[in-house]
Amino acid sequence: MGYIPEEIIDEVLQKTDIVSVISEYVSLKKRGRYYFGICPFHQESTPSFSVTPDKQIFYCFGCHVGGNVFKFLMLKEGVSFVEAVHLAARRCGVHIPEKQFNSALSRDYQKKQRAYYVLEKAADFFRKCLEADCGKEARDYLKKRGVNEQAIKLFKIGYAPDNWDKLIKYLTKLYGIGVDEIYDVGLVVKSKAKYYDRFRNRIIMPIFDVLDRVVGFGGRALGDSLPKYLNTPETKYFNKRHLLYGLNLAKPHIREEGFVFVVEGYMDVIACYQFGIKNVVASLGTALTLEQVKLLMRYTDEIVIAYDADDAGIKAAMRGLDLIQQLGCRVKILSIPDKMDPDEHIRRYGREGWQELLKTAKDLIEFKLEKLTDNTSVSVEEKVFVLKNIVPNLSAIKNLVELEESIKKVASALNVSVDSVKGELSTYKKEVKTKDKIKPKLESKKVKINPNSAEHLLLSLVLSDYDLYLLAKKEITPEIFDNEGYGNIFKLLIETEYKLKLKPAKEMCHLNEKEQKLLTYLLSEQQHHERSLEEKMNMLKDCISIIYESHKKRKHQELVNKLKEAEEEKDYKRVNNLLYELQQLFSSEKGGKLFYGRAEK
Ligand code: UTP
Ligand code: MN
Repeated sequence: MGYIPEEIIDEVLQKTDIVSVISEYVSLKKRGRYYFGICPFHQESTPSFSVTPDKQIFYCFGCHVGGNVFKFLMLKEGVSFVEAVHLAARRCGVHIPEKQFNSALSRDYQKKQRAYYVLEKAADFFRKCLEADCGKEARDYLKKRGVNEQAIKLFKIGYAPDNWDKLIKYLTKLYGIGVDEIYDVGLVVKSKAKYYDRFRNRIIMPIFDVLDRVVGFGGRALGDSLPKYLNTPETKYFNKRHLLYGLNLAKPHIREEGFVFVVEGYMDVIACYQFGIKNVVASLGTALTLEQVKLLMRYTDEIVIAYDADDAGIKAAMRGLDLIQQLGCRVKILSIPDKMDPDEHIRRYGREGWQELLKTAKDLIEFKLEKLTDNTSVSVEEKVFVLKNIVPNLSAIKNLVELEESIKKVASALNVSVDSVKGELSTYKKEVKTKDKIKPKLESKKVKINPNSAEHLLLSLVLSDYDLYLLAKKEITPEIFDNEGYGNIFKLLIETEYKLKLKPAKEMCHLNEKEQKLLTYLLSEQQHHERSLEEKMNMLKDCISIIYESHKKRKHQELVNKLKEAEEEKDYKRVNNLLYELQQLFSSEKGGKLFYGRAEK
């Protein structure tokens, strides 16, 4: 934040009605003080996506996405915060005068717009060259590889002529674009103060972002010259980590099919399209990044990785897998036989062959078992290792039948009993439960507070009444929260002197994604309207002592572990210090804010 003047953000928020903005994307129905609709961010059949007009926020009770109107536009349009403000401003007629952009970042934004323009004109140039006389060899090459006219049009494939400065001349002479501007988008190289076209004698694949803007290029050599592919270097406008080749085209097809194929290369995507497989994107030759997975999860929660079955491909896949799972996405791995890549496979065996191959896709458990055990006899230590490695994946399986099946698979692959796998799984689940499985519950009249939801309850109480907030602020510090998200929300509430509650749509910009979700959930659920202040006061006190108690427990465990370590290392000075800390912990009073304030660094 901070790169658009505060007043402008305020004005835009004031003039914007979140309901009417969201209505353009989601069909909303009014229910009490909320609007409900089918969530645009996950697949569902009953509406759990809510919009709260009086707070100007949205929240999905199904996938827990939430935020203000900017957040919605950011997610839905795949734009940055600034761009979302722009979109909203344009929509409600707030003029953002250029002079208002006094900070460097807002000038950046304008430069960015200019960069998109340069990139688009460059793409035009490459396309024209492919059609021109100089593109004959390139056209032949594409033909030889089976890339048809339709695909060339759809992917806007072009050709960079074998010339040192044709692009530079084209852009500067025809459009008055400066060489430095072309340099900024990575299309020229500088050598001894002279500029040259970066891409020469290469087939050009423009790379688009989700908004269909050209952001970079991949250039393939026509023959065997190296490098095989030359790509736009990382620039301010081109960051491979955030991009997936083909996603601009694949979006609707991914939604339709319910899953996405992730392949490695440009040619793989293009070939799949030609054979009618359109829910496909390429990771541009690297392991999937967090950002890429998140991008895909706007459209689906199932990813099928179809990498070459060579070592590099598998390693690349492995790195991505747990990441995908951590984000709550299902993942399957499709190994393509005989060292073929998807391009080669689909051209040889066609659409049917590809569909057949899809049936052999392995789920995460099967794939991991295969890779981790490699079929030789497994020692006890190895079994323990593999089991520990796989149990988190088991615990992510929601469907009971599927879980049962997977447990059996693991047991048989490791040659251990089903019970020991189940035992390991339940141990793991218990460990996790105490950590971050804080499931909010709707409390009944007589309240018994579940320790796991104390932090959630505390915040919802504090958000329901200013007096409760004042009480909590006196009694507890954000640092002792177990769940960092809740802690940060509480912290921001204090920092903004309760404005976070009063003007959530504005203040929540300071929270990260996850925290925004938590906050919007807290603000969207029923907030104890039916309880008396006294009742709520008592609940709050209970929450506070529970939170302290569990903080103390964690602290205790931490000290005990350290103590063990220090003893093993025979570091007696440290042992003494730790013992002293333990003593302090026990002698401190329950809820003793001072002690905790000091102990926490
Ligand atoms: P591959 O080497 O598997 O190439 O690289 P490919 O996709 O099969 O290409 P063709 O069929 O020979 O034309 C996979 C991807 O890795 C990136 C590209 O995105 C490529 O599509 N790559 C590869 C590069 O960026 N540079 C290279 O030199 C090679
Ligand atoms: Mn290939």
